[in-house]
Amino acid sequence: MSADGKIAGCDRTQVTISSEEDKTRAKNLRRKYDAILVGVGTVVADDPHLTLKDLDYDTNPVRIVLDPHGRTPDDAQVLDERAPTIMVTLEDCEREWDCEETIRAGKDEIDLPAVLEELAEEMGIENILVEGGGRTIAHFFKEGLVDRYTVFVGGLIIGGSDAPTPCDGDGWVADGGVRMHLVSAEVLGNGALLTFEPTR
Ligand SMILES: NC(=O)c1ccc[n+]([C@@H]2O[C@H](COP(=O)([O-])OP(=O)(O)OC[C@H]3O[C@@H](n4cnc5c(N)ncnc54)[C@H](OP(=O)(O)O)[C@@H]3O)[C@@H](O)[C@H]2O)c1
Repeated sequence: MSADGKIAGCDRTQVTISSEEDKTRAKNLRRKYDAILVGVGTVVADDPHLTLKDLDYDTNPVRIVLDPHGRTPDDAQVLDERAPTIMVTLEDCEREWDCEETIRAGKDEIDLPAVLEELAEEMGIENILVEGGGRTIAHFFKEGLVDRYTVFVGGLIIGGSDAPTPCDGDGWVADGGVRMHLVSAEVLGNGALLTFEPTR
């Protein structure tokens, strides 16, 4: 995130916040996980492929998209041939995708604990890197499903907007906030890497 706590531009455009050192760190982090997860908001805004270029279909981490209402376009990069993809949607969402697996869980909201259980027990996916965006990260915190929170704070202030309809995305409503303790802090290029663990 930026030094003023933002993860994208006001209009949701992607902003380069990471230093080169942090990009390398993030790539190495992806290698350590069974799966990489994002919300559909990130797919629609950024169209990420969520793969490591030197790995192939069998060696890349699985990609998971939380998409309750079936908004992921068929030509999204996250559905390409570079890695397996699991789409997660609501029970009554009838949308189909050309992907490895579709999990349907929950009536109004995706039932995250049920999804994680199914991923672990039926697909052997036991650790997941949640890359964003903000709403998805908030869901994981609210359900108490975060083991470790790592954030790179880059040397950049994105700022707000004085447009009549200001910034889209007002962060997330955390009832009373989430208490965490700092595990480590280090300078990484033109920024700082902070690692926290939630206080339970
Ligand atoms: N700086 C970074 O490292 C970074 C990383 C990733 C993304 N981003 C930025 O983040 C922005 C997108 O963030 P965002 O918060 O708008 O979107 P998001 O978190 O990517 O996706 C949010 C959407 O995912 C669905 N969702 C997520 N968790 C759910 C749950 N437990 N139950 C039901 N639905 C769930 C909902 O879809 P519906 O709306 O269909 O209900 C929700 O609106 C983009 O601008 C992107 O550039 C930045």
